[in-house]
Amino acid sequence: MAFQQVLHNLLRNGADALMADPPEGGPRLSLSARLEGRWVEITVKDNGAGIPAAVLPRIFEPFFTTKTEGMGLGLPLSARLIEQMEGTISATSDHGAQFTIRLPLRATSGEGR
Ligand SMILES: Nc1ncnc2c1ncn2[C@@H]1O[C@H](COP(=O)(O)OP(=O)(O)O)[C@@H](O)[C@H]1O
Ligand SMILES: [Mg+2]
Repeated sequence: MAFQQVLHNLLRNGADALMADPPEGGPRLSLSARLEGRWVEITVKDNGAGIPAAVLPRIFEPFFTTKTEGMGLGLPLSARLIEQMEGTISATSDHGAQFTIRLPLRATSGEGR
């Protein structure tokens, strides 16, 4: 299922960041969801090194990676899948990285499209 693939990508990226550069207070990776009107907002957040401001605008580009063994396809694929669900995905970075997905409720409550 496409949505599981997206979550897997985001959680994997968080875990990669935490393992590459473990934070002093211990690694934290969280997944949360909340309702906001007719949208569901899903957040994946870690307390790793974060994403430098110069890198942030490029992370959704195909083949962009900062990892030696990276493919750079996880985020562009995730963005495409979320767009197909008529949602949005965005990233911010401040004491770690945070990814936010917004999906219209009707697109997540079955295949009724
Ligand atoms: N949680 C994160 N913390 C820090 N950097 C991240 C995180 N998630 C993504 N990135 C950055 O975005 C780049 C692209 O991610 P992705 O498209 O999944 O490709 P890959 O994981 O193969 O590098 C990563 O190489 C990394 O630089
Ligand atoms: Mg990845």
